[in-house]
Amino acid sequence: MCGIVGFVGKEQAAPILLDGLERLEYRGYDSAGIAVVSAKHELQVKKAKGRLKVLSDIIQGGKSVEGTLGIGHTRWATHGEPNDINAHPHLSGDGKVAVVHNGIIENYVELRDFLKGRGYKFCSETDTEVVTQLLAYYYAECGDIFDAVFKVIHRIEGAYALGIICADCPDRFIAARKDAPLLIGYGEGCNFIASDVTAIIKHTRDISYMEDGEVAVITADSVQVYDYMEQPIEKERCFVDWDVSAAEKGGYAHFMLKEIMEQPEAIRKTAFNRIRDNRIILEDLKIDADYIKGISKIFIIACGSSYHVGVVGKYNLERMLRKPVEVCLASEFRYSDPLVDESTLVIVISQSGETLDTMAALREAKSLGAHILSIVNVVGSSIARESDDVLYTWAGPEIAVATTKAYSTQLVLLNMLGLYFGDILGTVSRSEYSAIIDELLRLPAKMEQMLEHTDDIKHFASNYFNHSSVFFIGRNLDYAMGLEGSLKLKEISYIHSEAYASGELKHGTISLIENGTLVIALGTYAPLFDKAMSNVVEVQARGADVLALTTESHAAEMRKTVENVITVPESHTIFQPSLGVVPLQLFAYYVALLRGCDIDKPRNLAKSVTVE
Ligand code: G6P
Repeated sequence: MCGIVGFVGKEQAAPILLDGLERLEYRGYDSAGIAVVSAKHELQVKKAKGRLKVLSDIIQGGKSVEGTLGIGHTRWATHGEPNDINAHPHLSGDGKVAVVHNGIIENYVELRDFLKGRGYKFCSETDTEVVTQLLAYYYAECGDIFDAVFKVIHRIEGAYALGIICADCPDRFIAARKDAPLLIGYGEGCNFIASDVTAIIKHTRDISYMEDGEVAVITADSVQVYDYMEQPIEKERCFVDWDVSAAEKGGYAHFMLKEIMEQPEAIRKTAFNRIRDNRIILEDLKIDADYIKGISKIFIIACGSSYHVGVVGKYNLERMLRKPVEVCLASEFRYSDPLVDESTLVIVISQSGETLDTMAALREAKSLGAHILSIVNVVGSSIARESDDVLYTWAGPEIAVATTKAYSTQLVLLNMLGLYFGDILGTVSRSEYSAIIDELLRLPAKMEQMLEHTDDIKHFASNYFNHSSVFFIGRNLDYAMGLEGSLKLKEISYIHSEAYASGELKHGTISLIENGTLVIALGTYAPLFDKAMSNVVEVQARGADVLALTTESHAAEMRKTVENVITVPESHTIFQPSLGVVPLQLFAYYVALLRGCDIDKPRNLAKSVTVE
């Protein structure tokens, strides 16, 4: 989704802004722009629809825009189509202020009418231009850009991360935040803002996260942050513990492939530091045994692939805890008048920690008294900060829009949490506990073994890449895993794909199966393997071309019926989807590759969805 970067220092700003925006490209965007103030107080705004390269070519890689202070933006259209005019930064009619904005201003219509009544003219369809003109209005009135910013943030409603520059102040920019991520980066003789640390990690790993209602005034040598009431405050600074190489491709053709390959190591980082003497230690957790014993119900709330982790989690946690677990899409939960009280544990899952629907659901659950435990990848993100408890996945930066290593680490951590609770509740026996820990310790190596042999998956991808419709079928954990396999395929290859609970097929979907329809039959969940086989036969009888996935021990049985079989190593049932999902990720990747798709930046999608 939209990205912001801002720089002030001694060097030319434009190339630094372009580089920062390039590092935010992965979030998804449809236009880009920068605004730079020159030493002569000239405010230059350059923007273009399309890829960043278009903008970069227009300004000769930044060389044609002079000035050491600037802001940049990649836009993912919400209000108004993607075009040059709607792109950010927006410049006020008097040419005095330029603004980049992430989020949505909800009362922009009312404010636009207010300004139109005072003679202000608008050229774009965006809510952001209203902020820009309102700033110009107050600036003209009070002559102080800082005061004008405070007047504006007290009038606008909605979500915003703002970067603001003013032609009359060539040494400073102003940043403001509410409900949209924004951080400050501290450099040597220069300072930054960014919506995502990836944009500035090349320059500094010393950062602080802005909180809601805060405003920052940033020069090359100073950063001063104020609260909503204009009182100066001291910010806590933190150090980002990964470096720029973690956000680069490192020889792989795509970030997605790199991240698929990183999964074993990512799981080690997630899990192994939390296992001591064969026991799970969750030192970061604040909830105690009494609270855990008193939990009446668990909600798992998330969006997209994180939701799919929750679907696997529902099966596994209910089995381990014998407590009701409901998994809910965040966008549905928040408007469902949910049955939540103090004895409800809400597990929120999010890679980015910024997904707006998930954040809103978290706040709804919190207001109803639930304890919020989040599983998050991005350290210091909004969801992490607003949760009562947070468990980080420590997967490192994930750049490809289609998540892989974040999904896998979330899955492992959720299982670990289940096991930890199960031990406290006495619902997991000693022997079961040990068996699960043993398997967890073996999991990364098993994944590595699979990742070393990907030829059969490449081969199947080349057989099927031109199919127009695919069905994933499975039962229980295989169904949950199929949801993710199907999403991976459709999001990067644009092939229509659906995941179905096999038992439900005959209630409608089977009518879509005809000669040659590709059905990916998932049969890794051992307790229901026989039933999975029946469903395979059922679709084959209707002409389906079946590609099956099963464990090594069931492969021979599967091959009696299906010619094309992918096998995965055996594991404990709860970890079987962690292994099973890997070939599905690779299948999606190779199919998309053969179809010539833009794998890391699929059309219309964003890495972090910060609008409703
Ligand atoms: C977007 C991404 C998905 C992700 C979902 C939830 O749709 O493209 O890959 O699963 O958001 O994101 P989160 O950061 O909350 O896990």
